[in-house]
Amino acid sequence: MELTGKQIVVTGGAGLIGSQLVEQLATDNDVIAVDDLSNGVRESVPEGATFVEGDLSNEAVVADIITDEIDIVFHLAAADKYVDTDNPRQQFEANSSMTHTILERMDEVGVSNIAFTSSCTVYGEAGEPTPESYGPLEPISVYGATKLGEEALLSVYGNTHDFTVWTFRFANIVGPRFGAGVVPDFVEKLDDDPESLTILGNGKQTKSYMHVTECVDAMCYVVEHADEPVNTFNLATQTTTDVDTIADIVSDEMGLDPEYSYTGGERGWEGDVSTVLLPIDKLLELGWKNELSSDESVRRVARELLAEL
Ligand SMILES: NC(=O)c1ccc[n+]([C@@H]2O[C@H](COP(=O)([O-])OP(=O)(O)OC[C@H]3O[C@@H](n4cnc5c(N)ncnc54)[C@H](O)[C@@H]3O)[C@@H](O)[C@H]2O)c1
Repeated sequence: MELTGKQIVVTGGAGLIGSQLVEQLATDNDVIAVDDLSNGVRESVPEGATFVEGDLSNEAVVADIITDEIDIVFHLAAADKYVDTDNPRQQFEANSSMTHTILERMDEVGVSNIAFTSSCTVYGEAGEPTPESYGPLEPISVYGATKLGEEALLSVYGNTHDFTVWTFRFANIVGPRFGAGVVPDFVEKLDDDPESLTILGNGKQTKSYMHVTECVDAMCYVVEHADEPVNTFNLATQTTTDVDTIADIVSDEMGLDPEYSYTGGERGWEGDVSTVLLPIDKLLELGWKNELSSDESVRRVARELLAEL
């Protein structure tokens, strides 16, 4: 589907990834960014888009925003994964119900294109590379279980309601925004105490960190070039970075040499998958290619965050 001259809704449009996506799409399309600002920042929504503050768990808000004039919905709104351990039931119910409401409304008014931000957490603790065809999918966090459930709902609409669905299984996406995530966490901790740094787990957790600008570029590319009823793509860098290396990169960018201490154990938190190997052959075969490695993305975002301090 060509992303030019379209009427587009971006849910979670004031969030880290949503605001970048809105910026990219708004150059050639009419974009409505919707966000309840539970984790988003109003100021991050670019001028060229229409912003609607609204809670998408409310059916009336969804009905107002998704009309028959919309060509495609990019559905990014989700309760933060870090609330998982605090209230997993609420997170599961809120996110799955919101996605179901959006799909039902789209079906009702004849909007049949949806791009959805899933996560590599659907693969659980695979312990081996996980291409999109990997199974069985056995998540180890409620966040991952919720994403898998939402993917299943989307599959129903793709396979039986004539929808075209693009599902993105993200690695870690990093960008210039303070909040949750290992890079901003280290920048903030070292800003508070330049002498020492507490690292969650054993520092060996190894994952892909993809810069948000590359992430939204890849998302748009896939929507423009893949046209099966259900298009599922891993989105990641071609290399990985371990947590100790992130600490080294952030320390280096801050000109510091702190003493590291570890909370211990293989995981950063309960439900954390310590090693994520996310092949992106399918994305490369479609013709999109990364410019940044995982280490380079971490370094770039560390610099961007430091510039905001
Ligand atoms: N950042 C990552 O590393 C990563 C990894 C895997 C998947 N994802 C997924 O990508 C999407 C975007 O992630 P992000 O990092 O930009 O997160 P984010 O928290 O910055 O963005 C999500 C936005 O959704 C909004 N939102 C939440 N509930 C809402 C509701 N009921 N109604 C309206 N708005 C609501 C929040 O205010 C927030 O602005 C999410 O679905 C997330 O689960 C992100």
